Amino acid sequence: MKVLVTGGAGFIGMHTASTLIELGYEVHIADLLHSYYSLERKNIHLQQIEKTGKFHFCRVDLTDRKATAELFTAVKPDAVIHLAALPGVAYSLEEPLLYVDYDVKATINVLEAAGKSDVKKVVFASSSSVYGDQPGKPLKEEMANGQVISPYAASKWSAESFCHVYASLYSYSVSILRFFTVYGPWGRPDMAIAKFIKLAMNGQPVEIYGQGSGRDYTYVDDIVNGIVLSLTDEKPFEIWNVGAGHPVLMSRLLERLKMYFPALEVQIKGHRTGDVTSTWADISKMTKDKSYRPTVSIEEGLERTIKWAYENKEYL
Ligand SMILES: NC(=O)c1ccc[n+]([C@@H]2O[C@H](COP(=O)([O-])OP(=O)(O)OC[C@H]3O[C@@H](n4cnc5c(N)ncnc54)[C@H](O)[C@@H]3O)[C@@H](O)[C@H]2O)c1
Repeated sequence: MKVLVTGGAGFIGMHTASTLIELGYEVHIADLLHSYYSLERKNIHLQQIEKTGKFHFCRVDLTDRKATAELFTAVKPDAVIHLAALPGVAYSLEEPLLYVDYDVKATINVLEAAGKSDVKKVVFASSSSVYGDQPGKPLKEEMANGQVISPYAASKWSAESFCHVYASLYSYSVSILRFFTVYGPWGRPDMAIAKFIKLAMNGQPVEIYGQGSGRDYTYVDDIVNGIVLSLTDEKPFEIWNVGAGHPVLMSRLLERLKMYFPALEVQIKGHRTGDVTSTWADISKMTKDKSYRPTVSIEEGLERTIKWAYENKEYL
């Protein structure tokens, strides 16, 4: 089976591509190598994938409708895992229009090109941010109502809606996966756990925004497992949460980090606009439908990520 992974040079993409290669899929990666974080880092991701096996790479900007159509005509994939996007809540408040291009327009281009080239399966990377701020309760798929609080979240909500449109226009099966705060080796450098570990290793203070926040931190292997499970699903349109199912309070995360970095200094800043207070994935639907079970606890995941960070200091 031939799978096109968009955004395959990114954090989740590199882990996804490597796993698919190990599972025997023919993997094609389409990535712009966007400068949201360093190009060097993205090239290293590609080198890491190569260690697991061969894949095809195309540097393409999916916001370009014609280039996206040509990509699909050339590759003719059976399935597409659409991970390419501009991530980041904070940056979306500075540059909201970029998110219309990279997260909405690029998704429409992919959905259209996939339909015209007879793709059978589309997996779309959505986000827990589509739930808006609904703290203190497990978030079930039907609880997303469009009342989001950042341009990033609005772009994911909109892209989900386009997925629904195109699932009815074409005969492919669409799975929307709502990922909850993903971390692990090669984690995105702008995200809390990766950023905190780097600062702690350099003896610098970490900044947290507001108190009492929590996140359903999900180890990247569990996310990839969710992607793989959805890849062979044939239902016309389905939405699933992919998370750990346990919110971790910021205070607990910091306590755990202090076990590795006892001198860690924490500076508390005011609440950051656009950030939700907490996230908590209800994963019962994915568990029931696809036998999904997260396997890596926050303790184990942090241990693995810190070990990786020490072994790869030069790339942090
Ligand atoms: N990391 C998380 O915690 C998290 C949580 C929820 C959802 N997601 C979603 O999962 C997906 C992957 O996230 P990630 O953390 O791996 O981010 P990432 O930035 O590491 O990877 C995204 C990749 O997409 C590529 N890209 C961006 N725009 C492109 C375009 N127009 N054409 C081609 N390639 C383009 C980038 O170059 C990058 O390599 C994104 O859709 C993101 O919104 C991530």
